[in-house]
Amino acid sequence: MKTSSRSVVDPFIVMDVMEAARAAEEAGRHIIHMEVGQPGSPAPKAARAALSAAMQDQAMGYTVALGLPQLRARIARLYKEWYGITLDPARVIVTPGSSGAFILAFTTLFDAGARVGLGEPGYPSYKQILSALDLQPIGIQTSAQNRLQPVAADLAGLDLDGLIVASPANPSGTMLDRGAMQGLIGACADQGISFISDEIYHGIQYGSRAVSALEISDDVYVINSFSKYFSMTGWRVGWMIVPKDHVRVIERLAQNMFICPSHASQIVALHAMECGDELQGNMAIYTENRRLMLEGLPKCGFDKIAPPDGAFYIYADVSDITDDSRAFAAEILDQAGVAVTPGLDFDHVRGVGTLRFSYARATEDIVEGLARLQAFMGKRGTG
Ligand SMILES: Cc1ncc(COP(=O)(O)O)c(C=O)c1O
Repeated sequence: MKTSSRSVVDPFIVMDVMEAARAAEEAGRHIIHMEVGQPGSPAPKAARAALSAAMQDQAMGYTVALGLPQLRARIARLYKEWYGITLDPARVIVTPGSSGAFILAFTTLFDAGARVGLGEPGYPSYKQILSALDLQPIGIQTSAQNRLQPVAADLAGLDLDGLIVASPANPSGTMLDRGAMQGLIGACADQGISFISDEIYHGIQYGSRAVSALEISDDVYVINSFSKYFSMTGWRVGWMIVPKDHVRVIERLAQNMFICPSHASQIVALHAMECGDELQGNMAIYTENRRLMLEGLPKCGFDKIAPPDGAFYIYADVSDITDDSRAFAAEILDQAGVAVTPGLDFDHVRGVGTLRFSYARATEDIVEGLARLQAFMGKRGTG
């Protein structure tokens, strides 16, 4: 049987690195994980306990397609708590991770062949999901002076049907401030194109708080997830906020594509939202890890880095060390026992000369990883 041409997408390289790290561990090696963007912590304790209790007397059947009504209402309340926004719960759609939200959003907003802009470096799966849906990802090479985020002027002449941004971004950790967000939303509105804001790293911020696109306009799609701040990657539950008149369109797609997000995960998500103390405890770990990385990476020779505003990554320019980030990451895994992500995942052009370090795991792992990197780079003669 033949496969479709649209199904031929690039691998998510970090998942390949994870697999190589797993194979090394199976062979008896101890690996420090600085590749994958997931918290080392589990879902909050009280949330897991709430699920255990619910499993005693609930069948965990399908929920309605848009998600448990209590969860949708609680998410709406989060917008009041975080941004002071009064949000109608009817506009909240619970999804199988933000990854499920991208499929729903792209399918709802765009016809086959549509051109969707995204900043490079950026989260790799946007491109691959767009391609698999017969849409055209249009990479926008961002500049250091714009903090690796697209700006309104970048959209000129691209003839886009939509734009997706992430703030804080993966891999750079940079945020769009209110003015920058306003500029992009305004430019999209002027050109009559759809604006999608990936806000998955909201809550994980080190200075000023992240601005939601919903603070600026209701005519946008906002996508978020329980994976990062709520420390629930493997539970696969996220959400999106859409204009009210899009809800029924999305409901019909969600019914047919997913039936519903995992019932059990929705229960954990609902209770995780009441676990602020534990989640702030995770934030204290990321804050300390970030400090250690900003201090330690330059000592290893990775000195072309910028302090991230949010998320838990540091994106390093290593172009003076290598022009093959994939081979370099493989060498670091093999020689130092530290898994890192080659920049090629995020930027097909300049990513040959960049690496992403994730600092989402336990602080002792960060300390050990930095020591290994320093020893490796010292021996290599480039540290
Ligand atoms: C920017 C960004 N968006 C979305 C995702 C996908 O997250 P999930 O499907 O777990 O919600 C990730 C995962 O790393 C990410 O970095």
